[in-house]
Amino acid sequence: MNIILLGPPGAGKGTQATRLVESRGMTQLSTGDMLRAAVKAGTPVGLQAKAVMESGGLVSDEIVSGIIGEALDALSPETGVIFDGYPRTQAQAHSLDDILSARGRTLAHVIELEVDEDALVERITGRFTCANCGEGYHDTFKLPAKEGVCDKCGSTEFKRRADDNEETVRTRMAEYRAKTAPILPIYEARGIVSRVDGMADMDDVTVAIGAILG
Ligand code: AP5
Repeated sequence: MNIILLGPPGAGKGTQATRLVESRGMTQLSTGDMLRAAVKAGTPVGLQAKAVMESGGLVSDEIVSGIIGEALDALSPETGVIFDGYPRTQAQAHSLDDILSARGRTLAHVIELEVDEDALVERITGRFTCANCGEGYHDTFKLPAKEGVCDKCGSTEFKRRADDNEETVRTRMAEYRAKTAPILPIYEARGIVSRVDGMADMDDVTVAIGAILG
C-alpha cells in the first residue's frame, strides 16, 4: 500500500509516519529527511538545497522528484511506502503519478492532517530529536521519561533543526497554503482523500489513521 501524509509543517506527518513504519513495516520516504541528509553530507543536491531550506522555501521539483524515484528503486516492489512531505506542488503530484506508474505502484490513500496553524508554531519551535537514533521529542508535549536521556537508545545528545524558528516556520506555512494545499483537489477527484484531526492527541491521530488504512 502506498499512501501520502499531507499537512502543513508540524502537522505530525513525521510522527505518524514513524508509527506506521513500526506498526505495519511500511517505509517512510521523507523528502525533508533525505534533503537534510544530503545537506549534512555536502552532496551537490545538499549544496543546492541548503539555503532554500533555511529560508523556508521549496527545493526544486526536479531535485525532489529525482530523489523520490531513486529511493523507490532501492525498495522491493512489495514494500508499502508512506510519502511524507512529498508531493508539495502540482508538478510534483504529476511527477509522482509518473514515478508510481512506471514502477507498477498505485496510491491507495491521501491522508490530510487538519491542524490549527497558530498551534503549529509552538509545536515546531519546541521540537527536538535524539542525535543518535532520531527519536522525536517536544519541550511540552513529549519529554524523555528521564530528563536528558533518550527513551529509545539512552543517548544524552539531542538536536534541533536549523529551520525550526518562528520566522522560517511562518514562511513554510505560507508555502504550504500557496503551493501544497492546492494539490488536494487532484486526489479528491480520485476519491482517495481522508481527513484526520491533527490537533487530537498523538495516539488518537494514530488510531484514526489506522482506521482509514484498515
Ligand atoms: P520537511 O522536513 O518535510 O518539514 P515540514 O513539512 O515543514 O514538516 P515537519 O517535519 O516540520 O513537520 P511534521 O508534520 O513532520 O511534524 P512532526 O511529526 O515532526 O521539509 C523541510 C524543508 O525541506 C522544506 O521547508 C523545504 O525547504 C524542503 N522540502 C522537503 N520536501 C520538499 C518537497 N517535496 N519539495 C520541495 N522542498 C521540500 O511534529 C512536530 C512536533 O509536534 C513534534 O515535536 C511532535 O512531537 C509534535 N506533535 C506531533 N503530533 C502531535 C499531536 N497530535 N499533538 C501534540 N504534539 C504533536
